[in-house]
Amino acid sequence: MDRLRQTITEAVHGQSQPTVTVLSSLLAVQDAIGYIPKEALEEVAAFTGKTVNDIWAVASFYPNFKFEPLCQHTVEVCWGTTCHLVGAMPVMKSVLDTAGLREAGDTPDKFLSVGYNTCLGACSQAPVISVNHRLVGRVSPETAARRVSGLSALPKPEDGHGQ
Ligand code: FES
Repeated sequence: MDRLRQTITEAVHGQSQPTVTVLSSLLAVQDAIGYIPKEALEEVAAFTGKTVNDIWAVASFYPNFKFEPLCQHTVEVCWGTTCHLVGAMPVMKSVLDTAGLREAGDTPDKFLSVGYNTCLGACSQAPVISVNHRLVGRVSPETAARRVSGLSALPKPEDGHGQ
C-alpha cells in the first residue's frame, strides 16, 4: 500500500467519535492530508458501504473540501476598502509579479497560492497581507515582494523532517 493510501486508511479507520459518517470520514481525511484525493473517495466508499458516486455527492456539496493538494505557502492580499484606499492594488500587482502569476491562484509547482481577502481584520495597519496566516501590516509593493521572494521550499515529509 502506498503512503498516501495508508494515511487515508488510518484517518478513516482511526475515527474515535461515537458516530462515524461519510462526512466525518471525509473531514478526517482532509484533516490528515489537507485535501480529498480520489483514493479517499474510494476508501470512504468501501468503509461506509456506499458507492464512490454517493461519496462524491457529499464531498462536492461542501465548499470547504479541497480536491487538489495545497500549496506549500499561502499569501493573501487584503482587498478591503481601507487597504484599497492606501495601496492594495500595487501591493497585489507586486505579489503576483513576484510569484509569476497573472491572477490570484496557485503556482503550477504548488509552491505558492495567492489570494484576495475582503478584510484581514487589521485595518489600522493597512495595507495588509497575510503570509502563511501571519499578518504583515503597512506593506509596500517592495516589502510585499521581499516577503514573497523570501519564502523557501519546505522539507518534504519523506525527508523525515515532517512539515
Ligand atoms: S480592509 Fe484590509 S485589513 Fe481590513
